[in-house]
Amino acid sequence: MLMQKFIESQRYLSSGIDAFMNDDFRIDGNRYFIDVFAPKFLQPGQTIVDVGGGKRPFIDGATKKKLQLTIIGLDIDQQELANAPEGIYDEVICADICQYRGQANADVVICQAVLEHVKDVTLAFRGLASILKPGGLALIFVPSRNALYARLSMIIPEKLKSQVLQVLFPQRAIFHGFPSFYDRCTPRDFKALATQYGFQVEECSYHYISRYFSFFFPLYLLWRLWSLWFYCLAKEQAADTFSMALRKIGY
Ligand SMILES: C[S@@+](CC[C@H](N)C(=O)[O-])C[C@H]1O[C@@H](n2cnc3c(N)ncnc32)[C@H](O)[C@@H]1O
Repeated sequence: MLMQKFIESQRYLSSGIDAFMNDDFRIDGNRYFIDVFAPKFLQPGQTIVDVGGGKRPFIDGATKKKLQLTIIGLDIDQQELANAPEGIYDEVICADICQYRGQANADVVICQAVLEHVKDVTLAFRGLASILKPGGLALIFVPSRNALYARLSMIIPEKLKSQVLQVLFPQRAIFHGFPSFYDRCTPRDFKALATQYGFQVEECSYHYISRYFSFFFPLYLLWRLWSLWFYCLAKEQAADTFSMALRKIGY
């Protein structure tokens, strides 16, 4: 209890310094993907494949109904699919996106917070491209391999990481427990893969914020100084998270 109160006070102080930053350094990338980036590409009647949607599909029941969408859930884990809200998926496919070959018949693929968990992102891009019809769109959100928390995540043993996250972010327990590899998860690598698999980059969004260090204000301040310096050196390669809208033009 005392510990939680202390962490809350540190988070409050940490968000205080963010108030002086511009939007790219202040607005959470995943929130932006959910609220702004992806919704504008949704059109009535589309067939959407939510790759790695599992128990948390991107589209809710109200939006599905309003836009008359057909939603297919594709996930490597059958249990994840089984725990999705009832009726949200019109079809489920239990498959590894790295092995899966689609039928080039979907309008949109959504892939939110999944590719960092995939061992071979090159193969995953091949899978994503195979699902879309020509002109179809892949909407991707991913944390970057270059983010400091990602680098730490790659060296901390899974079990210890889960325990630490459970203490510091109990409210995000639903996200814990998926091993992360961050294979090729940088904006530059994704652009190269997009070209390789016949996509055109339609829109990108880069966000230089994560809350992992906000549990202890001095650490957050140090991380902030580091992230600003890294941004000056590397621009979008220094982003903590990024979103891409990729249009399939061939392959
Ligand atoms: C962190 S969860 C994200 C779930 C949801 N997209 C969201 O944003 O809340 C990662 C999901 O990706 C799935 N996943 C991991 N590797 C996968 C793969 N190779 N192919 C398909 N799904 C995968 C997991 O089973 C899990 O449901």
